Amino acid sequence: DDIEKQGFEHYMLKEIFEQPKTIMDTMRGRILREEGLVKLGGLAEVEDKLMHAGRIIIVASGTSWHAGLIGEYLLEEFCRIPVEVEYASEFRYRNPIINENDIIIAISQSGETADTLAALREGKHKGALVLGIVNAVGSTIARETHAGVYIHAGPEIGVASTKAFTSQVTALVLITILIARKKYMSVVQGKQMLDDLQKIPANVEKILAQNDYIRELAETYYSQRNFLYLGRGYNFPVALEGALKLKEISYIHAEGYPAAEMKHGPIALIDENMPVVFIATQDAIYDKVISNIQEVKARKGRVICVANEGDEQIEKHADHVIYIPYTCKALTPLLSVIPLQLLAYHIAVLRGCDVDQPRNLAKSVTVE
Ligand code: G6P
Repeated sequence: DDIEKQGFEHYMLKEIFEQPKTIMDTMRGRILREEGLVKLGGLAEVEDKLMHAGRIIIVASGTSWHAGLIGEYLLEEFCRIPVEVEYASEFRYRNPIINENDIIIAISQSGETADTLAALREGKHKGALVLGIVNAVGSTIARETHAGVYIHAGPEIGVASTKAFTSQVTALVLITILIARKKYMSVVQGKQMLDDLQKIPANVEKILAQNDYIRELAETYYSQRNFLYLGRGYNFPVALEGALKLKEISYIHAEGYPAAEMKHGPIALIDENMPVVFIATQDAIYDKVISNIQEVKARKGRVICVANEGDEQIEKHADHVIYIPYTCKALTPLLSVIPLQLLAYHIAVLRGCDVDQPRNLAKSVTVE
């Protein structure tokens, strides 16, 4: 066990620290930089169908569902294909409408989640082309899909998914570029996005170097009973994922919300006992997020911000800031999720929780 953990106290921490490598492994051999193109052997035969898809329906559960939400933003923005992201458990029972040109993408780390498997079977039964984004090679979902992409993140042992998430998002970025370059994306834009993607592992490394600082933050907050996570755009799914990580392993109640929706409910909860984690990276809606932060401060909420390096203005608004390198907004989730994984990890350790084997949860849920 200790050999497997390679000196890390827990598998989860080891897997968080593996991400520069695992993100690289997802990209390896799949990028043709000069042409700004992506090559995905597992999708070669369905490329045309993907390009002409009338709609893409992503089915997944848990953390994989959060990756799917980022996939929706990517595919709609760059490929202009309408995307639905469905909880597999809901999709399978609601007699979904599936048209001839619809393509289903099942996302699953284990490839064995019962609900996701049943959702893909239902889609297949109704005549859809079904693709997979899977980690476990040869798993049931990998075998039952018509085609797909392996994320090559290697075995994930910690019950709370970390490295699989960033590799799923990386795979979704690759699929997006694959399709977009056949449609609206120029060679220059393709190259730019791939260059940014190739810089992600080094940037993740820079965030991991702040592990001690994030542990200190956790010391300030670990006895709290509630947390709110807020983000907008590509960072909204990251807010959901940050909250999920915290509740899974520390048993603290945490909610993720789109920052602007705060005024329709969560704002009523804010007082000095409600820490709020804002993901406030610099993009077109940055100013709006700042005003959300001010609303929280005005109600005595404590604010932790994930912000871009060089954004000194944010320190005027937040109690604590975790800085991450800048990248284009579509790739931001690959960086902004890392401090949230570490924060959840350290809070759980400080609370004495069994980080790798949280109560009541399973790594792969093969029952309904
Ligand atoms: C369980 C795990 C989660 C995971 C979810 C979906 O709930 O604890 O970490 O995100 O299943 O699993 P999958 O293997 O389909 O991605």
